[in-house]
Amino acid sequence: MNLVVVSNRVASGRANEPMTGGLAAALLPVVENSGAIWVGSSGHVREGSQKEPFAEIEALGTGALATLDLPAAHYGGYYEGFANSALWPALHSRSDLIRVSLEDYSSYREVNAFMARALLRFRKPDAAFWIQDYHFLALGAELRDLGVREPIGFFLHTPWPSSAVIGGVPHHRELIEAMLAYDLIGFQTEEDCENFHCYVRAELGLEIHDGVVKSQHGRTRLAVFPIGIDPEKFAQAAAKAVSHPDVSRLRRSLNGERLAIGVDRLDYSKGLVNRISAFDRMWTAHPSLRRTVSLLQIATPSRGSIEAYGTLQSEVAKLVSDVNGRHGEVDWTPIRYLNKGYSQPILAGLYRTAQVGVVTPLHDGMNLVAKEYVAAQNPADPGVLVLSKFAGAANELDTALLVNPHDIDGMARAIATALSMPLTERRMRWEAMMTKLRAHTIQRWFSEFVEALQESGANKAAAEPLIAERPTLWPLRTVRSTARYQ
Ligand code: F6P
Repeated sequence: MNLVVVSNRVASGRANEPMTGGLAAALLPVVENSGAIWVGSSGHVREGSQKEPFAEIEALGTGALATLDLPAAHYGGYYEGFANSALWPALHSRSDLIRVSLEDYSSYREVNAFMARALLRFRKPDAAFWIQDYHFLALGAELRDLGVREPIGFFLHTPWPSSAVIGGVPHHRELIEAMLAYDLIGFQTEEDCENFHCYVRAELGLEIHDGVVKSQHGRTRLAVFPIGIDPEKFAQAAAKAVSHPDVSRLRRSLNGERLAIGVDRLDYSKGLVNRISAFDRMWTAHPSLRRTVSLLQIATPSRGSIEAYGTLQSEVAKLVSDVNGRHGEVDWTPIRYLNKGYSQPILAGLYRTAQVGVVTPLHDGMNLVAKEYVAAQNPADPGVLVLSKFAGAANELDTALLVNPHDIDGMARAIATALSMPLTERRMRWEAMMTKLRAHTIQRWFSEFVEALQESGANKAAAEPLIAERPTLWPLRTVRSTARYQ
């Protein structure tokens, strides 16, 4: 099979680069060993019509990484607009933050259509397309309109909300009907899949039998594929990283004090305000925990030009400064707050240094930080994971200390419990979580989805003759224009 993986953001493939976001970091090790071509945005935009949209095509492991400059006229409406100001808040059940205009929606559709045309270059005998995430809900339908009959799968990395919430997104019906052009749609959790079932039944009036829905596009299988990590590789990286200069400096600076760690994109779905408030509450309720435990919160800036993110950035910065002002001492800072990204190997070492991992999103598709924190622990003396019950990861990591991220007192108590947990209990909880991580690795996630895609694709209409064959040697070309990523 000639697999083409498509996502908005891609990993660079260069070792030890800071990475924003779970998807790109999670996919890199599996995609590079699969021989697939990974197609995504270059992070740059280009004006005018593009005969050759690819900015760069380079080798990536046994496959290739192909990035394209997206159309300048539509980028803002697509990325900051419809994808991240309408879909993202809705998918995370924040209807109050949905902002949308007709122009944004049409830019979103234009970019999906643009990506579909670009992908024709990789249409080869035995091709299959695997589209990732909410940026490209309509890409499968666009490919079908261009005559593509090969298997096309889609995986949603975020939650899928209730019908009432997704119904708050303008054009929801058109978009979800378009999604049924996919042969296979994968979700992180049973609850997400069930919410999608409800929409399809109630809003589209379609029936679902054995997880398969029949629509004007043919059959679409709906299934759950919880994404994993490579726990052994992460554990090795963590053990090695303890000697990394940043990690050693952190350890030395602690002077025997214990550490809790949080690592997130600066996003309202991550529950940062509630988490910091819980630490505030804990230090107020247990003054003896002042100077004995501090929080290292890494919050990587993200989507800064969107109003809700700018507001959040100011709110979190102010709260951190209030809490530090309230509890700090001349020689003790309760919260170390960093607005930058770190590479995976350094993060692995930081996780291993911390006795408590705090992963408390208000709602999250999976949250791989939770899994990475567990994998990074020293088996002889593991730390404790405090995990939101609204993260997809809570389904598997059910021996973490599960918390309600809206309950500040409850979180404060859980953090204090984590700090006083005896070694035997820590080990028992950690071993149970590691067993789950070993059973559901990223490699298994990848191969199970691809296998299911092959099976589901075989059910679609018989393949039509391929359009003109493309050469398999792609010219390497670099055209740079305005950078849009941050
Ligand atoms: O949760 C879905 C996801 O694709 C994550 O992998 C990533 O954190 C985020 O959304 C994308 O963020 P960005 O807009 O920075 O690419």
